[in-house]
Amino acid sequence: MEKSLIKEVIELYKENKWMDIIDKNPNVTNEEARKLLWVWPSFKNLEFIKEKLNEFNMNGISSIGCGCGLLEWIISKSTRLEVIGYEINEIWWTSKYCIPQFINLTYVENNNYILKSNLALVFCYFNDSEAFNDYVNNYEGNLIFIIGPGEGRGTHTDPSPFKPNFQTNNWVLNDYQEIKTTKDFIAVYIRYNNLIC
Ligand SMILES: C[S@@+](CC[C@H](N)C(=O)[O-])C[C@H]1O[C@@H](n2cnc3c(N)ncnc32)[C@H](O)[C@@H]1O
Repeated sequence: MEKSLIKEVIELYKENKWMDIIDKNPNVTNEEARKLLWVWPSFKNLEFIKEKLNEFNMNGISSIGCGCGLLEWIISKSTRLEVIGYEINEIWWTSKYCIPQFINLTYVENNNYILKSNLALVFCYFNDSEAFNDYVNNYEGNLIFIIGPGEGRGTHTDPSPFKPNFQTNNWVLNDYQEIKTTKDFIAVYIRYNNLIC
């Protein structure tokens, strides 16, 4: 019988073979794949993230709504930088029904979090604009990645990569890259006063 994708990925994770996980490259509309990742990045995408973190002197990422944390684990391996993954609903994530986690999750309930300014914020397939703006308002750093669908992808996120609806004019689009040819994008926003040298 064919081994399940989740089992294969867990085995590769235990062997620290993150590059082999990238090479799997399943279609993320596949239900099993989606339990692991909403976007399956390429090496080029990971290099793009790393270059942006280096360009803006960031020590890593705080990923909001990281799910099982597979993307974040892969980013930690490919960049060798710090990764913190935030989630809600500890009861679910510690229950026997959920998928195993690839990083330790930090649970945020009742706004009890402090975001480090030397880590970029990442929102990947996040879907709560109000919570998004709360996180952004509590963030004193200069770099935000929004990963989600571009036009024609047929999925929805809020914030969307190109119309994030920041509550202030402090954030401007610096760059973006498509996740392979999926119509999902990584959009990079920087704090406006960062532009003034
Ligand atoms: C569609 S999933 C995306 C998971 C993962 N980022 C990925 O791309 O595979 C959205 C995640 O956001 C989490 N979430 C929703 N509201 C949140 C909040 N206010 N703070 C942190 N995480 C939240 C959900 O629990 C869920 O795991």
